[in-house]
Amino acid sequence: MPDIGASTLDRTARASTIESEVRFYSRHFPTVFKRATGSLLYDMDDRRYIDFLAGAGSLNYGHNNPHLRAALIAYLNRDGPISVLDMETEAKQAFLETFSAIVLRPKSLSYKVQFCGPTGTNAVEAALKLARKITGRTGSIAFTGGYHGMSMGSLAATGNKGSRRGAGVPLSGVTFVPFEYGPMGTFDSAAFIDHLISDPCSGVDMPASILLETVQADGGINVASAAWLESISDLCQRHKIILIHDDIQVGCGRAGTFFSYERAKGITPPDIIALSKSISGFGLPLSLLLIRPEHDVWAPGEHTGTFRANQAALITATAALDYWRDDSFSREIMRKQSKISAVLESTVRQLEPRILIRGIGLIWGIDFAPLKQPDFARRIGENCFRRGLIIECCGRNSSVLKLLPPLLVEDELLDEALAILHLAIRETC
Ligand SMILES: Cc1ncc(COP(=O)(O)O)c(C=O)c1O
Repeated sequence: MPDIGASTLDRTARASTIESEVRFYSRHFPTVFKRATGSLLYDMDDRRYIDFLAGAGSLNYGHNNPHLRAALIAYLNRDGPISVLDMETEAKQAFLETFSAIVLRPKSLSYKVQFCGPTGTNAVEAALKLARKITGRTGSIAFTGGYHGMSMGSLAATGNKGSRRGAGVPLSGVTFVPFEYGPMGTFDSAAFIDHLISDPCSGVDMPASILLETVQADGGINVASAAWLESISDLCQRHKIILIHDDIQVGCGRAGTFFSYERAKGITPPDIIALSKSISGFGLPLSLLLIRPEHDVWAPGEHTGTFRANQAALITATAALDYWRDDSFSREIMRKQSKISAVLESTVRQLEPRILIRGIGLIWGIDFAPLKQPDFARRIGENCFRRGLIIECCGRNSSVLKLLPPLLVEDELLDEALAILHLAIRETC
């Protein structure tokens, strides 16, 4: 087991004297990183860590992916512009044409692309704003356990009370409804919403939008079924409610297909899809909305921002789309999904059958809530870190360990990480 050296701890302590108390991940993974490649991070003492955090889902193609890096270096070497707001550029045109040819047209989708401010939360803000403008209504429906970001609009649609408290003002305009899967078991959310908006005495007005993650990621890896997704989509069609899919964490292949809703074969594609995190592929900030053409009612400049359509991010985003030219990448993700699911069932659940395992594609959760032992997942996460595996906790009371490897993770590293996890759970149990 690697031993955290005194020099590394000194450096970590030094950094924390100047950085704000708001820092988060550096507390959970107390070392100083200097190098990263593929699924591996190395610290200042050259200690190696398998990265199952993957930039919180922004590194689907791994750290410093050579194909993306080569495209970026070539662009920098030819003095490509980096920051030009949303002016027309070769890089932007190449991205839009490639995205259309590789992702949209083969799926018969005619979405328009809106570049938002560089974070996921800005895409969610823009989507909520646009839905209000389209419908002339004000409210939104979101789901308990959901996470959509930290700025006011997206925080109002985020369930976590600790995060919401940080706003310091009342967060309004959102009605929360139980997700399909939660602490109360399974729930027919579409029937409940239908009742809420049809009942003259429910106290809930017809909303502008319904905002959802098809897999609640930070909420504890709650995977909506195809039937549930279809029922929400059908409800939105019947009541002319704008359906917004927040695919910021589970889009770009995380759930096995490019868009996470694609597992619901009978679904009408959402009115708006938000993408960020892994759309640039390289961990560079990029955030966008896909909007049905009839809903693109923005006035020029109505949702603007300095860092929209960052050119370096567009270059790597275009190169990343090469992984989607055929379905071999998707098939590889599904192969690894079967492996993770089988290993977790045969190792972790063998140790303690009350532990719950949920996931799809390459996002998996090990839920220790039924053991009713506070801090259990956190202690296992710490044990994993000491053994060279970076993995974070999520879900209610942080009871779920979240497996989020790069989609390109090599089989040997996947096996090694799962073995570390097994050992850490056994030791903590
Ligand atoms: C589903 C989802 N939506 C929105 C966000 C917010 O993205 P950002 O942190 O880039 O603002 C996140 C971030 O984790 C997310 O997982």
